[in-house]
Amino acid sequence: MDAGTGGQGGQDGQLRQDGRSGQDGRRGPDYSRRQVLSTAGLAAVAVPLVTSGKAGPIRRVAALLRQADQAGAPQPEQVHVQFGADAAQQVAVSWATPAPVSRPTLRLGQPSQGLGIEVPAEQRTYTEALSGETVWTYHARLDHLSPATQYVYEVLNDGATPVPGMFRTGPRGRSGSFRFTSFGDQAIPAPVGAGLGPNTPNAGYIVPAVERLDPLFHLFNGDLCYANVSDAPVQTWASFFANNTRSAANRPWMPAAGNHENEVGNGPQGYLSYETRFELPDNGSASFRGNWYAFTVGSIRVISLNNDDVCLQDGGFSGFRRDHVPTYVSNGDNPYINGYSSGAQRAWLEGELAEAQQSGDIDWIVVCMHQVAMSSAHFNGADLGIRQHWLPLFDTYGVDLVVAGHEHHFERTFPVRGTLSGSNLLTPAPQSSDPTLMDTTKGTVHMIIGGGGHSFPTPVADFDAPHDGVLITGVGPGSPQSQHPTITTTEPAPWSAYRDLQTPYGFASFDFVPHEPGGTTSITVTHYGAALGSPVYSPLDQFVMRKRLAGNRTGSQLAAASATR
Ligand SMILES: [Fe+2]
Ligand SMILES: [Fe+2]
Repeated sequence: MDAGTGGQGGQDGQLRQDGRSGQDGRRGPDYSRRQVLSTAGLAAVAVPLVTSGKAGPIRRVAALLRQADQAGAPQPEQVHVQFGADAAQQVAVSWATPAPVSRPTLRLGQPSQGLGIEVPAEQRTYTEALSGETVWTYHARLDHLSPATQYVYEVLNDGATPVPGMFRTGPRGRSGSFRFTSFGDQAIPAPVGAGLGPNTPNAGYIVPAVERLDPLFHLFNGDLCYANVSDAPVQTWASFFANNTRSAANRPWMPAAGNHENEVGNGPQGYLSYETRFELPDNGSASFRGNWYAFTVGSIRVISLNNDDVCLQDGGFSGFRRDHVPTYVSNGDNPYINGYSSGAQRAWLEGELAEAQQSGDIDWIVVCMHQVAMSSAHFNGADLGIRQHWLPLFDTYGVDLVVAGHEHHFERTFPVRGTLSGSNLLTPAPQSSDPTLMDTTKGTVHMIIGGGGHSFPTPVADFDAPHDGVLITGVGPGSPQSQHPTITTTEPAPWSAYRDLQTPYGFASFDFVPHEPGGTTSITVTHYGAALGSPVYSPLDQFVMRKRLAGNRTGSQLAAASATR
C-alpha cells in the first residue's frame, strides 16, 4: 500500500494498453533549447528587475564571457523553477551541486536580448539523517519581472559550465488564458541504491508528456520521489530532479508535501529535505516555511497544503529509516505528525481563503494537496481528518477545485458542499449530477490524480462493486517504532462523478479561460492516461468547470453551505 511501506509492490496483471490514439498534437509557443543556448553571448540589456530576500543585489553583467571549466569544479544540477506569491512578477530558480561551490549565480535575460542580469543565489544545506551526506542547494529569487513574458537564464558557479533554462511569467489578472497540468505520486524512472523505493519507466515517460502540452506551470500533488523509503534518499532526490528538470527547468513545478516527503529524522517533521530543496512562497511561518503556501496566477489563487498535519493515517512511517537512521531512538524521532502545526496551518488557510474570496481579482480558488477527502478505492481510502479540518473551510470560502494524489488512480467528483443528511462520516453531498459540465459556485470539485509513476498503481480489485466510498476513520495503537494501523469503513459515494479503473498512469491538463463571451470563466480539464511501459499518454476523459464571473462568491453560497452542513 501507499502509506508506510511505499515499496515496489506487485505490478498487477490487469494493466492494459488503452488502445486510443496518441497525443492530441497541441503545442504551445515553441522556444527551443537551441534558441536558449544561442542567447548566451549576446549583448547585455537593461531589464527592470531586482531580487528580494537574502540573496543580495543583482549585478549587470559587463561581459558575457563563458567561464572556462575548471577541472573538478562541481556542476549545477537538478535545476527547477518555482513561482513566487505573484506569478506575474516573481520566480525562483533552484538547483543543487554535489559539493559546495563559490559564487553560485543566475544570469537572466529575454530571448532576443541576451543574459544581461546577474543574480547571486542563496546557499541552503541539510544533512541526511540516514547517511550523513550533506546536500547543497542554491536559490535565486527574482522579483519585478514583466507579466506574461518569456525569460531565459543560466545557472553557474566558479569553474562550472552554465546550465540553461527558461520560464514564462503569468499574465496579470484576467488578461490571458493559460494551461496548467497536475499529477502526484511520481517516484523515479529506475532503481537507485538497493532499489527499495518505487520506480517505473512511466515516472520518466510522464515528463515529456507534460512538456509537450507546454503548460504555464505544473501542480505536483505530493509523494514526489519516495526518498523516505529508500536506502539511498539523496540519490533518490537526485534521480527525481534529473528526470524532471527536462520540464521543471522550463516552467514552475509547484509541489505539495505528501506523506512520503516525511523523511523521519530530517528536521522536526521530516520535511527538511523538501524545505531545503524548494524555494516556495512565504507563508509567514519561520518553523514551517514551504510546508504550505499560496500564489496567484491570472485570476486563480492556488493554495498548497500539507495534509499530514490533519490526516489520521500514519503515512510517514518507514521501517527502513526506523532500523537504519542512527539517531532515530536517541532523538525521539516520530513519523506520526498529526496535529504538528497546532492549528497554525488551519489559521493561515482560513486567512488566505477569506482574502481570496473577498478579492475582486480572484475568480478561482484551486487547492493542491496530497491525501484525499473522497476515494472509492481500498488503497489508502479518504481521510476523515481532511473532512473535519479542511472541508468546512472549502465550503465557507468557495474553493472551486482540489487536486490531490495519494490514491494511485484517477477519480473525480461532482461539486460537493455540506454533508449527506444524517451522515456521521461527514460524507460530502453532491450539488449536481452532470459529469461533463460543472458549476463550481455550487461546490468544490475534487480530483485524485495519483498516477504519476509509482510502481504500485491502485489495483482494480481495490474498487468495490457496487460502487462505494472508503474512509479512514482512525488508527489503532502504534508508536515511533510501530506504524499505527488504519481503521477504515465504507460509505455511499454519490459524490463520485468518474473514475478510471484500468489506466494506471496519467496526469491532467487544465485549460483556463479568464473571461468568455456572456460573462463566464471556465477551466476545461483533460485526463491523459498511459499503460505500464508505454510513453503514449492519450486523452481519456474531459469535463468543463464554468461559472459566472460576477458575484461568484456571494452570500447565497454561504447560505447554501450553512444549510447543508
Ligand atoms: Fe503515493
Ligand atoms: Fe501518499
